[in-house]
Amino acid sequence: MYQLFFRLVFTRMDPEKAHHLAFRWIRLAVRVPVLRTFLAAALAPRHKELRTEAFGLRMHGPFGLAAGFDKNAVAIDGMAMLGFDHVEVGTVTGEAQPGNPRKRLFRLVADRALINRMGFNNEGSLAVAARLAAREPVFRTVVGVNIGKTKVVPEADAVADYVKSAERLAPYADYLVVNVSSPNTPGLRDLQATEALRPLLTAVRAAADRTVPARRVPLLVKIAPDLADEDVDAVADLAVELGLDGIIATNTTIARDGLGSATDPSLVAETGGLSGAPLKARSLEVLRRLYARVGDRITLVGVGGIESAEDVWQRILAGATLVQGYSGFIYAGPFWSRAIHKGLAARLRTSPYATLADAVGADVKKAGKTV
Ligand SMILES: Cc1cc2nc3c(=O)[nH]c(=O)nc-3n(C[C@H](O)[C@H](O)[C@H](O)COP(=O)(O)O)c2cc1C
Repeated sequence: MYQLFFRLVFTRMDPEKAHHLAFRWIRLAVRVPVLRTFLAAALAPRHKELRTEAFGLRMHGPFGLAAGFDKNAVAIDGMAMLGFDHVEVGTVTGEAQPGNPRKRLFRLVADRALINRMGFNNEGSLAVAARLAAREPVFRTVVGVNIGKTKVVPEADAVADYVKSAERLAPYADYLVVNVSSPNTPGLRDLQATEALRPLLTAVRAAADRTVPARRVPLLVKIAPDLADEDVDAVADLAVELGLDGIIATNTTIARDGLGSATDPSLVAETGGLSGAPLKARSLEVLRRLYARVGDRITLVGVGGIESAEDVWQRILAGATLVQGYSGFIYAGPFWSRAIHKGLAARLRTSPYATLADAVGADVKKAGKTV
């Protein structure tokens, strides 16, 4: 039914308007107690065998919502109601900013992909921190907060901008993510170079510890799929050295590989990050490489091109403890998480592994490639 609705209604609307419309419905539904209870029971049934623990946090399952969908932390309960086991809000920047001019989000329907150059449109760290502070959770879910650099802040002052966000947001974050991988903020991805990344992560770690002395807020870094393999290794080594809690692989790509001929070349030529099905192979490759390098020393989060339970399972075998999705949700609709959970539970039952944790990295270990 969603497919029909998507084809008849959403594909005729501007993608960003369709996003806001769907978002409004989710937020409205969660305000009506009977409706949200019914929807959560229907869309987010819990499978005991999928219970997951990552960086000391307990979750109903391994599958969460990737950053960028709920940039301002306005729909955490709505997304939990739809079955996401964790919700990563943001990217939030130090200061509020409008993002790039519209039109900045494009659907490549034949490729089940999106291109976006949103440019971190968000209300800024002060407003999002106030919203999180005032939040009265309806559903118990893990909330990650993803932070990035304000566009007008010069690269030389990037660390201070991230620190400002970390200080304001860490108290409300179950985990914190340093995003250095979005292609739509000039210079941002240069922060992935270890000379820039080391002081940045060290300063954000210190800021989180300073502002939340009672709890160690897990800190993760999110990387791009466009890094050369040696640079992936360098980030992995740095993460181990700094005692980081996790790495999220990957963000969107600036490459245009894997697109079919049915997609209009003018769409392919749009500037921005490509996500969805064409990103699947590279994201999986980066994840596998990371796991071979860090093993179980650091928690890995797999994201990029997830469409099905089988995709999630493959990421787990490649080393992911948690898996996230964004574009697949746009194409599959509200029953997506439910289908993933159901399929994943069935996959685990027919596998040689007793728990999901046992399956993490199994393919890489089998190949004898772990540290
Ligand atoms: C419209 C859009 C906006 C996004 N915004 C962010 C963002 O603000 N911060 C971030 O870390 N990732 C952002 N992402 C990247 C996603 O979190 C994810 O890493 C990427 O889309 C790959 O996953 P997918 O193929 O399941 O979409 C965005 C993706 C899309 C499609």
